[in-house]
Amino acid sequence: MITPHGADALNPRYVSDGAYRSELLAEAESLPSLVLNSAAAANAVMLGGGYFSPLDGFMNLADAMSVAVSMQTGDGLFWPVPILNLCADVGGIEVARRIALRDPNVPGEPVLAVMEVASIEAASNNQLDTMIQAVFGTTDDGHPGVAEFRSLGRYCVSGPIDVLNFSYFERDFPDTFRTAVHIRAEIGRLGWETSVAFQTRNPMHLAHETLCRMAMERLDADGLVIHMLLGKLKPGDTPGGVRDACIRKMVQLAFPADTVMVTGYGFDMLYAGPREALLHALFRQNMGITHLIVGRDHAGVGDYYGPFDSQAIFERIPPDALEIDIFPADHVAWSKKLGRVIMMREAPDHAPDDYLVLSGTNLRELLQNGIHPPPEITRPEVADILMDYYSR
Ligand code: ADX
Repeated sequence: MITPHGADALNPRYVSDGAYRSELLAEAESLPSLVLNSAAAANAVMLGGGYFSPLDGFMNLADAMSVAVSMQTGDGLFWPVPILNLCADVGGIEVARRIALRDPNVPGEPVLAVMEVASIEAASNNQLDTMIQAVFGTTDDGHPGVAEFRSLGRYCVSGPIDVLNFSYFERDFPDTFRTAVHIRAEIGRLGWETSVAFQTRNPMHLAHETLCRMAMERLDADGLVIHMLLGKLKPGDTPGGVRDACIRKMVQLAFPADTVMVTGYGFDMLYAGPREALLHALFRQNMGITHLIVGRDHAGVGDYYGPFDSQAIFERIPPDALEIDIFPADHVAWSKKLGRVIMMREAPDHAPDDYLVLSGTNLRELLQNGIHPPPEITRPEVADILMDYYSR
C-alpha cells in the first residue's frame, strides 16, 4: 500500500487512549486557554485524523515562511501550505508552557486540543503578505481565502498538539466524517491496490459523476473514495448536509455497491487553487489513495487561477515530493451531438455550441428560480434534493 507522506506510519494527533484523554481533559481545565479561529480548529481536526502526517502540530514562523516560499519545512519535508495557529491576541498565554485550545465552532467553546507551546511569534506585515502571495497567488482581499487569512491575526502560536475530539464533524456528519486512519485501514481491508479520490465541495452533478467513472475505468481502479469537504465554505456554496444527501443518492443510483466509499473531512476551504491541490494530494496519500482526480479549476475561485494551473503545479514539484499521482482531467461537459458527458479534448469535431456547459452559479440561479435542472446536468433524483433545499 502507498506509504504515508514523509514517514512509514501515520501520526494521528487524536488521543485514542480513553484514560489519557480524560487526564488531558482534566489538565486542560486548569491551563490557560486560547479560543482558536475556525481555520486553526480545522487544522487541529486534520492533525487529529492523521491527514497532516507526519506533522505533530502547528508550524512556527520560520517553517511557515519556508513552506510558503519553497514548499518545504526547515527539515526539508515537502509541504505546500503553512499549517498555522494564527491569532490576534495572545493575552494570558504569553508565558504559558502548555495551553488548552478551545473550539470556536461548538457552543460553550469546549477544549479541542492541548498544546505544548514551542513559540509565540508576531509575523510582520511583510511576512504575512509574502505568505499570502505565495499560497494564494494574489494579495487581493476580494479573494475569499485571502480575506479570511488576513482576518486571523499576526501571532503565530506553534507547537505539538494532542487532539481530544473531532469538533462538530463527528456529531453533524456521523456517517460521513472519517479520519485518514480509518480510510487507510478500510482501503487495506478491502484490498484496493489502485484507488481514486474525488475531492469535492459541491453536490455531484452528472459531469462529476462521469469524471469519477472515467478515472476508475482508465486507471483500472479497484475503488473510488468520494471525499467531501465538510468544513466552512464561502457564502453561497451548498451546505454539507445537502451535498452529502445528493452525493449518497447519486452513488446509490450510479455505481455498483462496494466500489465507492462516501466520506468527508473536517477542513475549511482555502480556495488556494494550485497550492491547495498539492495539499489535497498530500492528505489523500495519507489516506492510502494512489490517484487524486484534478480537473478544471480544482480548488479555485473566481478567475484567480487558470483552469489547469492546479494540474500544472504537479509538474513543478520535485519528482519524489509525493508518491500519489493525479488523474488530470480536461473539461467534462454534456455533448448535445453524442447525448452523453465527454471530455472536451477528446471531441475535436465539436464546436462550443455542441456542448451544454453550466456553471455552479448558473445552476444555483435555476434552482433559486424553482427550475428543475435538466437530466443533462443532474440526475432527477439529485435535482429533487437540491430543489427541496433551494425552495426553503
Ligand atoms: S473543488 O473546489 O472541490 O475542487 P468541485 O467540487 O467543483 O470543486 O470540483 C471537484 C473536482 O472536479 C475538481 O478536481 C475539479 O477540478 C473537477 N471538476 C469539476 N467540474 C469539472 C468539469 N466540468 N470539468 C472537469 N473537471 C471538473
